[in-house]
Amino acid sequence: MAKYGVCVYRNTGLDDAAHIKFSQRIGELDTMRRYMIDGRKPRYGFYELFDAGNIDDQGGVLDPNSPRAQYGKGNALFHVDSSFNPRRASFSLLRAVEIPPPGNGGNTDFADSRTAWDDLDPALQRELLEKDYTVHHSIAQSRKLGSPEFFKDLDPTNAGRMARHKLIQVHEPSGRRNIYIAAHSHHIEGIPKEESDALIKKLLDHVTRENNTISVEWKQPSDMIIWDNRCTLHKANGGSFEGKYRRDLRRTTVHDDSSTAWGLNEVEDDTEKWVVNHAATKAAGMTKVQG
Ligand code: OGA
Ligand code: MN
Repeated sequence: MAKYGVCVYRNTGLDDAAHIKFSQRIGELDTMRRYMIDGRKPRYGFYELFDAGNIDDQGGVLDPNSPRAQYGKGNALFHVDSSFNPRRASFSLLRAVEIPPPGNGGNTDFADSRTAWDDLDPALQRELLEKDYTVHHSIAQSRKLGSPEFFKDLDPTNAGRMARHKLIQVHEPSGRRNIYIAAHSHHIEGIPKEESDALIKKLLDHVTRENNTISVEWKQPSDMIIWDNRCTLHKANGGSFEGKYRRDLRRTTVHDDSSTAWGLNEVEDDTEKWVVNHAATKAAGMTKVQG
């Protein structure tokens, strides 16, 4: 994992409980508890499982125009999991339960933010090291970018607290520098908004340019992909399966335990109390799915 950042494990045979148990051997898991307000229960019975699929409440295929699907569109943009949380995520473990028939899309794509740093223009590298920028991350930002019309009234600057993380970091397991940026990146601290927007776009385009990405096909149920959110970005691919075939993917998420896990955010001992960005989930009329 330290070397490649993304590893694909075919046909693991894991079920929900084994998936969770295996993940717990890697580190402390994030849970869905703080999203389960108003008496909601996790879709698959385990608070440790984040739902990345398109299954509706009746077990059918989610309507692509439904609020939940609009919310999910943010995951089709390159992002890292949990950069909008005070404590970011290290590993995500995503497992297929049911996948669409071959040829209907639904791959997951990855980009390596360390090779992106290595390939960056040396003048820009020097500038970024010198400035040592801090980026503010918000789940509302990626929801808005993913579905601008649906979320037109959602204002990330007025949608709850943003999380602050350094832009250029050292990935501790490999010792390599990387660019910690994501679709959740709202602005860079201390510079004019236009300059910040332009730099975020430039860096995101650079990290996710075609020759720095791979596309992974899901081949059978129980395939699992593990990635390190501290050195890679990922995104969901749409396709002709949408609105037609079930794509049931479930994810566990490991809390980062590296020295920059909390970025510049206050360390809180009770993660269940983290304020979820309810402005985003409320705008979608739901509170139980996240990116
Ligand atoms: C995730 C995610 C991508 C996909 O689970 O964090 O972004 O292909 N999933 O569903
Ligand atoms: Mn994700």
